[in-house]
Amino acid sequence: MSETSVALEALRSLDFPRQRVREVEFLMDGDDRRIGQHYSALAREIAALGRQGQSVAYLTIGDAMTYSTLGYLVAALKREAPELPRRVLPGITSYATAAAMTGFALGEGKERVLILPCPDDLSTLTADIEHNDVVVLMKVGRRLNGVLDLLQNMNILEHCALAHRLGLDGEVVLPSLNVRPEAGRLGYLSVLLIRKHPPEVFLKVYFIGAGPGAADLITLRGARLLGQCRVILYAGSLVPEAVLEHASADAERFNTASLDLQEQISLYRRAQQEGLDVARVHSGDPAIYGATAEQMRALRELGIAYEVVPGVSSFTACAASLGAELTRPGVTQTVILTRASGRASPVPDAENLASLAAHQASLCVFLGGHQLEQNVAELLRHYPPETPAALVQRASQPEERRHVATLGTLLGGLKLSDWTLTTMLLVSPALHDPTELQEVSRLYDPAYAHRFRRAHTGEGERTRRTCRPGHLAGPGRN
Ligand SMILES: C[S@@+](CC[C@H](N)C(=O)[O-])C[C@H]1O[C@@H](n2cnc3c(N)ncnc32)[C@H](O)[C@@H]1O
Repeated sequence: MSETSVALEALRSLDFPRQRVREVEFLMDGDDRRIGQHYSALAREIAALGRQGQSVAYLTIGDAMTYSTLGYLVAALKREAPELPRRVLPGITSYATAAAMTGFALGEGKERVLILPCPDDLSTLTADIEHNDVVVLMKVGRRLNGVLDLLQNMNILEHCALAHRLGLDGEVVLPSLNVRPEAGRLGYLSVLLIRKHPPEVFLKVYFIGAGPGAADLITLRGARLLGQCRVILYAGSLVPEAVLEHASADAERFNTASLDLQEQISLYRRAQQEGLDVARVHSGDPAIYGATAEQMRALRELGIAYEVVPGVSSFTACAASLGAELTRPGVTQTVILTRASGRASPVPDAENLASLAAHQASLCVFLGGHQLEQNVAELLRHYPPETPAALVQRASQPEERRHVATLGTLLGGLKLSDWTLTTMLLVSPALHDPTELQEVSRLYDPAYAHRFRRAHTGEGERTRRTCRPGHLAGPGRN
């Protein structure tokens, strides 16, 4: 009589007349003839009860048709009493319960899953694991130690799970075997879930533009994602702590100012192993001097998905601070973003500052605080000295400073060492005081009609209307 008490134990909370319960021997071993005789005899007993008008319930643990003796009995009933109605009710198998309790996916996509009783010859088990993605091993018993040795040698113990006496006294659930358990009696009434490769974890790295530094100049999407990610890497030299107020209090934070690329990649790899989303916070907009390309390449190699959330770039924050429009009609319609050549990444020769200055457009120099004199000298080769110019430091932050002059007078009397960090140099004929406006855009001219507005004739009448209901203003029509 093996494990009958387990089936009864499973029913302990149910109310039914115990005197009507009969334990039967679940014969599993032996030759086919002996098994056939055993279950034929049982089928005849059940048939006799059935013919007296009684219903019989045959109870097994787990699912009745999975590695269970019910299959023998059903075959015997078909032989001995084909006229008797019978119905098999499914149950929850031990391995489905084990999978649910350990969070172990039993096959994803096209993975191959093999369910088998543990073989005596463990070399065949090695082949089974190699030819499948997941192996569900039942009836391990005394072979557990040998199986653990094998999994350890295959270096896959940590992504295997074990469940013992599920739902019964003495239940043990081990979602990972990274700490090898003592075999003892753990092999009995157990199921071992074996996965050949580590489970795929889905995480994403979000490159988030933090904006120029004010906590409320990050986008709503950026703030929401920052609040959701459990791991945060931020460029601490440029992103003030104030922006991180959007982060969750229990998120792990790493200031990348002191980390090299490899160290940052190690953090991405760690997050990948733990399945944690990462917020990679860059100042301004990540697409501008963000050094994101090399991180994206590493993420692709690691098979980690990423997404970019744009931000308010510092050059627009500087223009906002100056109250300037960088694209003034009739003055300049072009904005050039460039940077001072640095040790980390030189600017290509073809883009040298003097050649860009030749356009006399609006020009913003990033990362140039340490070589202001050199930059201004280069710019003066093409811009007239009376061209308006400005330095803006830490735009949008409480420490923001502005210095507005002409290019020719910009550095006079200035303590240059005060302007080395987080400073933008802007030069543009468009920075003139707006009261000196020479020419304006025709966009809001009452006589100018376009798709979305009729022109006024002068008497307040509109001559032409091209705006159709349901049309929204497109870019440039604000
Ligand atoms: C590595 S770049 C990053 C640019 C950033 N991705 C952006 O879109 O603004 C750093 C440079 O941006 C400029 N910068 C960043 N934040 C700034 C701010 N709040 N005020 C002025 N300049 C800023 C400075 O020139 C600084 O040296």
